[in-house]
Amino acid sequence: MKYIDAVDYKLELGRLESSSFGQLLERYSSSQKIIIVDENTHENCLPFLITTFDELSKAEVIFLPAGEENKSIEIAFHVWEALTEYQISRSDLIINLGGGLITDMGGFIASCYKRGLDFIHLPTSLLGMVDASIGGKTGVNLGHFKNQIGVFSNPIAVFIDPVFLSTLPENELYSGFAEMLKHGFITSDNLLVRIIEQMKNKEEFSIDLLFDCIQVKNEVVKNDPFEKGERKILNFGHTIGHVIEGYFMDSLQISHGHSVAIGMVMESFLSMKVGKLNRDKYAEIEELLTSIYPLPKLTDVGIQKMTAMLINDKKNKEGKILCCLLNEIGDCTYDNAIEEKIFLETFMHFKNLQINMN
Ligand SMILES: NC(=O)c1ccc[n+]([C@@H]2O[C@H](COP(=O)([O-])OP(=O)(O)OC[C@H]3O[C@@H](n4cnc5c(N)ncnc54)[C@H](O)[C@@H]3O)[C@@H](O)[C@H]2O)c1
Repeated sequence: MKYIDAVDYKLELGRLESSSFGQLLERYSSSQKIIIVDENTHENCLPFLITTFDELSKAEVIFLPAGEENKSIEIAFHVWEALTEYQISRSDLIINLGGGLITDMGGFIASCYKRGLDFIHLPTSLLGMVDASIGGKTGVNLGHFKNQIGVFSNPIAVFIDPVFLSTLPENELYSGFAEMLKHGFITSDNLLVRIIEQMKNKEEFSIDLLFDCIQVKNEVVKNDPFEKGERKILNFGHTIGHVIEGYFMDSLQISHGHSVAIGMVMESFLSMKVGKLNRDKYAEIEELLTSIYPLPKLTDVGIQKMTAMLINDKKNKEGKILCCLLNEIGDCTYDNAIEEKIFLETFMHFKNLQINMN
């Protein structure tokens, strides 16, 4: 078992049965417990949880439709109604069992209901384990705008058990790898190389690598929990990535990680275009990422719409689109103000690349 100190809670990495999850449940023995799942974690993860922890057999299970388009205030509203129907009080406990959608939404739902009740994250996707369950960001989308409504709110604990990865579909595994690659791009060439090696050997997951990736996120968040400065480097690939994810939400449904990977290629291109990243390094990054994460076909209308969406990015300040840029692998800067026309030119460049998704 590996233990990590987060902002004001504990993260544990290892088998759930050997963790302090059971003891924590004992502390809530007289409370009602609610487990929030989606249809896939209901089928693949909930049986293990309930058979391993007998006391959860009486828990209420709320299940949400899977899919980013359901990360909405309307669905959250239904859950608040259900919690009211079950007469859930502030002393009860919510357990979020799922990927980033469930931990983001479940955390948001718990934080707003009766001004906040305790919640635990049990991430079941790779992306959830290395990223979404850590750092206290919770929320829902507003139409096509990602995570537009939300609050910073920490769980009482996060338990990361890689056992859940055995049922995760391959494309979702790659979605998680994208956020891990981001951790490499922004902090260390050596970490990046280890992640690329891990991607070649998906059957055997290195706990040490998971631990190191979790630590990257956790350390950055601990230094800047409310994203006033340093934490912004975690947004590398996300300014464009969120727009890609939002724009294609109703059509190609590109996963969060895949969208971030596309965002990282494009933001690396931007880094080269403004004279920060050298041309050879950019070519390496483009080759690495586009060989794993294909680019969607871009149209002129799509490019106009995506550029307009960038204007609404929540990281913007004083009307400027702010973006992370790479100087080098392991050296990322944030709050770079980029003109709208440079984004337009970047999208046009990738439209012309014609590496299209099948
Ligand atoms: N809060 C943060 O700091 C943060 C950081 C990164 C991403 N996010 C958010 O996280 C979300 C993406 O997370 P995600 O990729 O985990 O998406 P997700 O929760 O939608 O999960 C992806 C798919 O995998 C399925 N799944 C999850 N675990 C499974 C398992 N063990 N077995 C079988 N199927 C399983 C889900 O049902 C879903 O269909 C996005 O909404 C993104 O905005 C949040």
